[in-house]
Amino acid sequence: MNKSTHHPLIIFLHWFTFALILAALLLIEIKNFVPRDNLWRLDLKTYHMLIGQMIFVAVLVRVITRLFVINPIEQEKTLSRLLKKIMHAFLYIFMLGMPLTGVLLMQSAGKPIPYFGDLYPIFIQENLGLKQTYKYIHEYWGNAIYLFIGAHAIMAIWREYVMKDGTLQKMLLSKATRAH
Ligand code: HEM
Ligand code: HEM
Repeated sequence: MNKSTHHPLIIFLHWFTFALILAALLLIEIKNFVPRDNLWRLDLKTYHMLIGQMIFVAVLVRVITRLFVINPIEQEKTLSRLLKKIMHAFLYIFMLGMPLTGVLLMQSAGKPIPYFGDLYPIFIQENLGLKQTYKYIHEYWGNAIYLFIGAHAIMAIWREYVMKDGTLQKMLLSKATRAH
C-alpha cells in the first residue's frame, strides 16, 4: 500500500468533519446574534446539536479506520512526527469531547436532545450544579478551539507553500485515489 498520502477514507472523513465542524460553529455563533424572542434561536440550536452528533459518529468511524490504515506521518523525522501526533491527538480529543460535553450539558439540565433515532440513552440524571461545569467546558473549549484549528491549518499551508514538502497533497482525495 502506498504510504505517501493518507487513506482515501481518512481524507474524505477529514474534509467532511471539517465542513460539519464549520457548520456547527457557524450555527451557534449566528444564534448568539438572534434576538431572544425569535424562534430561529431554537432552530439554530437544534441544528447545532444534530450536526454535533453527526460529528461524533463521523469521528468514531475515523478513529476505527485509523487503527487499520497506514499513517504517512510515521515516516517523518522524530520531532516532526511527535509534534504532529500531539496536535492530532488534541484535535481528536476535541472532536469527541465537544459532542460529549454538549450531550452532558443538555442532560444535566434535564432537557431532551434532538436526535435522529427512537431511543436516546440517558447518560446522567438532571443536576444543575454539574450543568454549569459542562456548559463552561463546552463553551470554553468551543471558543479556544479556533486557535488550535487555525494553528493546524496555518501549519499545513506553511509546509505546503513555504517549505514545499507536499503536506497538503497528502490530504487530497485526487492524489490518494490514484495512489491507493
Ligand atoms: C464538535 C461538535 C460541537 C462543537 C464544535 C460545538 C461548539 C459550540 C460552541 C462554540 C458553542 C457556543 C459557545 C458560546 O456561545 O460562546 C456551543 C454551545 C452549545 N452547544 Fe455545542 N458544539 C458541538 C456539539 C454539541 C452537541 C452534540 C450538543 C448537544 C447535543 C451541543 C449543545 C450545545 C448547547 C446546548 C450550547 C449552548 C447554547 C446556548 O447558548 O444556549 N453542542 N457549542
Ligand atoms: C475543524 C478543523 C480541522 C480539524 C479538526 C482537523 C483535524 C485533523 C487531524 C486529526 C489530522 C490527522 C489525520 C487524521 O487522522 O485524520 C489532520 C491532518 C491534516 N489536516 Fe486537518 N483538521 C482541520 C482542518 C484543516 C484545514 C482547514 C486544513 C488545511 C488548510 C487541514 C489540513 C490538514 C493536513 C494537510 C493534514 C495532514 C497532515 C500530515 O499528514 O502531515 N486541516 N487534520
